[in-house]
Amino acid sequence: MQKITIAIDGFSSTGKSTVAKQLADHLGYVYVDSGAMYRAVTLFAMQNKIISKDHFDIVKLKESLPLIKLKFHKEVNWEKAHIFLNGKDVENKIRSLEVAEFVSPIATIHEVRTKLVAQQQLMGLEKGVVMDGRDIGTVVFPHAELKIFMNASAKQRALRRFKELLERGDEVAFADVLKNIEDRDTMDTTREDSPLIKAVDAIEIDNSEMNLEDQFHTVLQLAKDRIAGRV
Ligand code: CDP
Repeated sequence: MQKITIAIDGFSSTGKSTVAKQLADHLGYVYVDSGAMYRAVTLFAMQNKIISKDHFDIVKLKESLPLIKLKFHKEVNWEKAHIFLNGKDVENKIRSLEVAEFVSPIATIHEVRTKLVAQQQLMGLEKGVVMDGRDIGTVVFPHAELKIFMNASAKQRALRRFKELLERGDEVAFADVLKNIEDRDTMDTTREDSPLIKAVDAIEIDNSEMNLEDQFHTVLQLAKDRIAGRV
């Protein structure tokens, strides 16, 4: 069966990674969480005093890029691949609200994007990949056979992320989570380099009122149709 490339873009906490992972598992494809890469670069910047609440040293960030090595690795008993930053598993650390508060400014930097996009394109060279992010259907894989654009109301998305953070044991306030989602929506859609926009040939899914199962079956049917060359 011929393999295709599947690009899933959309706003924060729209469930992109959940559906992308389910789809990849079902099809036997590789799943790549491109947001994890931007989050890992952000963690590096935080650890190396490149970014903090009142300071962002863009020159140092650009100079440091050759020192940042990212890799995905999955052990058999792990549910999904973890991201490694310079050999260290940072999968858990990158999911904090603190990282989320700095990631969108980091993701505006052209040199950061060039580096990560090149690595993402290499991972998709052989097709059979489901990648989720903000610019996958527009920049990383503009020729992807299937492009999905996910959306949901900001309140629904903040509620989902709030629950995830509480389940991790993080002490966060709902208002801060909602503000982070709204701030990132603004930054991600208005940045100069590769803003979050729906590719003209993407299929939009609003999952505000959809459960995970409905969402998965909708996307799976679209993928099956594309693989079979039906649409
Ligand atoms: O999981 P969540 O929806 O919160 O976001 P994510 O996919 O982990 O991405 C975190 C941030 O990285 C986004 O808000 C974007 O600023 C940036 N990003 C990007 O610019 N391009 C991508 N392909 C993926 C993420």
